Amino acid sequence: METVSILLLNVILFLSTLLSYPFLRKQKRGLFPIKIFKLPPGSMGWPFIGETLQLYSQDPNIFFLTKQTRSHHEIYGEIFKTHILGCPCVMLASPEAARFVLVTHAHLFKPTYPKSKEKLIGPYALFFHQGEYHTRLRKLVQSSLAPDTIRKLIPNIEDLVVSALESWATSGHVINTFYEMKKFSFDIGILSIFGHLDRGYRKKLEENYRIVDKGYNSFPTNIPGTAYHKAFLARKRLNQILVEIICERKEKRLVEKDLLGHLLNFKDEKGQTLTDDQIADNIIGVLFAAQDTTASFITWILKFLHDDPKLLAAVKAEQKAIYESNDGGKKPLTWAQTRSMPLTYKVVLESLRMASIISFTFREAVDDVEYKGYLIPKGWKVMPLFRNIHHNPEFFSNPHDFDPSRFEVAPKPNTFMPFGKGVHACPGNELAKLEALILIHHLVTKFRWGVVGSQSGIQYGPFPIPQQGLPARFWKESSRPIQDVCPYVTDLGKSPSSITATKTLLLP
Ligand code: HEM
Repeated sequence: METVSILLLNVILFLSTLLSYPFLRKQKRGLFPIKIFKLPPGSMGWPFIGETLQLYSQDPNIFFLTKQTRSHHEIYGEIFKTHILGCPCVMLASPEAARFVLVTHAHLFKPTYPKSKEKLIGPYALFFHQGEYHTRLRKLVQSSLAPDTIRKLIPNIEDLVVSALESWATSGHVINTFYEMKKFSFDIGILSIFGHLDRGYRKKLEENYRIVDKGYNSFPTNIPGTAYHKAFLARKRLNQILVEIICERKEKRLVEKDLLGHLLNFKDEKGQTLTDDQIADNIIGVLFAAQDTTASFITWILKFLHDDPKLLAAVKAEQKAIYESNDGGKKPLTWAQTRSMPLTYKVVLESLRMASIISFTFREAVDDVEYKGYLIPKGWKVMPLFRNIHHNPEFFSNPHDFDPSRFEVAPKPNTFMPFGKGVHACPGNELAKLEALILIHHLVTKFRWGVVGSQSGIQYGPFPIPQQGLPARFWKESSRPIQDVCPYVTDLGKSPSSITATKTLLLP
């Protein structure tokens, strides 16, 4: 009898262990953490829709500082909780925390975008995904933007740069630099996606893309007449145009090295190809990721060079030497030359740091996660704050000074992330830098520019750009100096009495 009851007890123990196994596993996975961690410090306040406007229309550093401060004296530190855009959120303002979310524990944080925006770009675009689909698509996008591929684009990029500069200079008009740079970066996007594209298609894509772009940051109501609704319809038209282009390319059976070629040639291990929708969404995704970011970045470079005549003169000397070695600009730039512009390259890096075009990014915790003794609950948003890190005096001394020489020494690990970090880091970073270097080369060797108006400061829309998109006038170096043609050209933020001196300085 005793043996039977011991046996029974053992069976019960065995069964209860077996049954509780999934529960224990869940505990270990974090659904019910065995150890109770506390939430990060910070005040949740009320979920507050008005924050959307604040977040995207003011200096993110000021916005985050108000979130990071309990009173005028107490700052929470590198990790703090708050509500943002109506969601509970943990903000991370240290290089280690950013690395934790984006690199070492990236599998615990998925990308997250509002559904309204996902619909306009297309749900198959790689940056909405995680895991296998993302890895596959990323490989294709990365290889179409790899140094070996983009080096072949240099002559085409040069053509686009020179034709843009010529048209600004010959028009004699004041241009909105950011707006013109948007057109320029759109053309480069088209070039890297399609290689050569028929003019008619390019025009149709541009027209409809512009409508999508306008509606992207508008209030997402799908009611006829609203900017969002118009964008939604234009996005549908973009799909039709892209399907036509895809069909034509398939018929021609050409094996191209551009992004469309990579997307069309893809086959998984089961022989499965990508659908037209998957291809279209990723084309729009890349155009979208490339356009405003690069346009804002190059606009800032022009502003920083313009504001520092000594630096501009030094960059000009570096570029003139290359220009002369190319027979006074008769020979095209080579890849090696674009890799050997030490000062100009440092200007590019410092512009990326100062402007911090992508000030932060969003992820969502896919499970309860513990970071340095704090709990990040499942479903909460997580925001690594790139701009705060780039502007932290602990990592960059006098962070508000534009000083390219700081890049003579490599920044500390994970303190410089203008293109993000980890599995979602920007695959277009080399192309963006190449565009900037080529544009600077032609601009400073053959053209000059003066900024018009006296407003200084930053506008957020949502990317940071100089006020009013940096209104400027361009002219050819060989033509008459600006004083004779435009009496209203002033330097940003300078009093009228200093205008003449500034204009002279502008002409190194
Ligand atoms: C100065 C210009 C640019 C900046 C500052 C920039 C910045 C970034 C950043 C920070 C990310 C990561 C976002 C995150 O982790 O959530 C990103 C992703 C991305 N960028 Fe860029 N970018 C620039 C230009 C470009 C260009 C020229 C292209 C393509 C031609 C491009 C294509 C992409 C794509 C496809 C992704 C998503 C990658 C993924 O999810 O795997 N970007 N970019």
